[in-house]
Amino acid sequence: MRLAVLASGTGSICQAIIDAHVDVAAVVADRTCGVIDLAIARGIPSFIVERTDFGSDFDRRQFSRDIVTTLQQADIDVVAMAGFGTVLDAPFFDAFDGRVLNTHPALLPSFPGWHGVRDALREGVKITGCTVHIATLEVDSGPILAQAAVEVLDNDDEASLHERIKSTERHLYPATIKKFLADLEAHT
Ligand code: GRF
Repeated sequence: MRLAVLASGTGSICQAIIDAHVDVAAVVADRTCGVIDLAIARGIPSFIVERTDFGSDFDRRQFSRDIVTTLQQADIDVVAMAGFGTVLDAPFFDAFDGRVLNTHPALLPSFPGWHGVRDALREGVKITGCTVHIATLEVDSGPILAQAAVEVLDNDDEASLHERIKSTERHLYPATIKKFLADLEAHT
């Protein structure tokens, strides 16, 4: 099974996946960002499918098709999203049906969306965490594979809480990806 990581940020979650000895066949980003530097440093093929349009006319379906083309050209079977900044449309989820994983920095179904950490803080919850799930067309939904709780401290701000959640994601996500890939190999 050939795994690709989709990311848009620093790539610290992607780095944890690589460091856990998960074989990453390709890294795909939608912009120039740290994860591309990481892939280059680790000798992993990397691709930028650049998103140039952030306006209301953005052709999300075409962008999703472009992502699929890039992944298919790299012969990818399974996709792990790790902070990918563009919501993808049906062509992507149709092409990789049931084979897209995501990690989200909150305990889904609570606090979906891009600001899961901020929203949890605003609600004043005392426990939040992270969720690894199979990603489906609806953002931050789909079957939950694993969750871990993280305590919210009195002096937390968004950055400190997110960093503690990410410390947990860096263990939970690679372990869950490994199990998912092993189960898939066993059943194909
Ligand atoms: C993680 O918290 C992930 O759950 C979220 O984006 C973050 C990515 O972190 N979707 P990094 O850019 O890999 O450090």
